[in-house]
Amino acid sequence: MSKIIIAIDGPAGSGKSTLAKMVAERLGFTYLDTGAMYRAITYLAIREGIVDDEEAVSKFILGLDVTLKYENGVTRVFVNGEELTDYIRTPEVNGKVSEISAMPAVRKELVRMQQQMGKVGNIVAEGRDTTTVVFPDANVKIYLIASVDVRAERRHKEYMEKGVDIDIEEVKENLRKRDAIDSGREISPLTRAENAIEVDTSSLSVDEEFEILIENIKKKINL
Ligand code: DC
Repeated sequence: MSKIIIAIDGPAGSGKSTLAKMVAERLGFTYLDTGAMYRAITYLAIREGIVDDEEAVSKFILGLDVTLKYENGVTRVFVNGEELTDYIRTPEVNGKVSEISAMPAVRKELVRMQQQMGKVGNIVAEGRDTTTVVFPDANVKIYLIASVDVRAERRHKEYMEKGVDIDIEEVKENLRKRDAIDSGREISPLTRAENAIEVDTSSLSVDEEFEILIENIKKKINL
């Protein structure tokens, strides 16, 4: 088995992260959380006070060194050596990440870094555009979907577990807004790759989803 790439795509809250981690662990592959990279840049753009200034962000991204370390179920993210892991999953970052990830200069740099990371092979890459732009030749492409109500419930539960008190309607609104920006943007819009396997996770348990994915992966590659 050499240099296999599995790419998992889909809208926010469709279960991508949970399943990508499980698949990577089962296969002994490296988990590549591309969303963590967009989140880290968004956090820094907010901190630098340039989040609404595309020109400034486009300059800022050049020359940054973004690295990921997946440990004990968590993707740790570092930019120029500074760890940002604890700051990238806040409502503030969630509110701005779609705008930052719609910027062509940001996508160009991060896609370049992700393709570099993918060169080692045996990875499970997760995120919008991993099946279409980052790894169009991935051995297996999976596109997860779920209803907006189910996705909002999942995100709300995650916030509650982290002690973030937020109304579920606000979570739903945020998801709708992100879906619209992510699907409507000019470059790398959220779309299902033609040869991706689509799985609707709305009414499945995590274990059921995992089994479906593993079955499909087995059909595509020799495990
Ligand atoms: O998967 P996530 O929720 O951590 O992603 C955060 C945001 O980053 C989401 O709004 C879409 C964007 N993103 C992207 O545009 N391309 C990727 N490959 C991964 C994430």
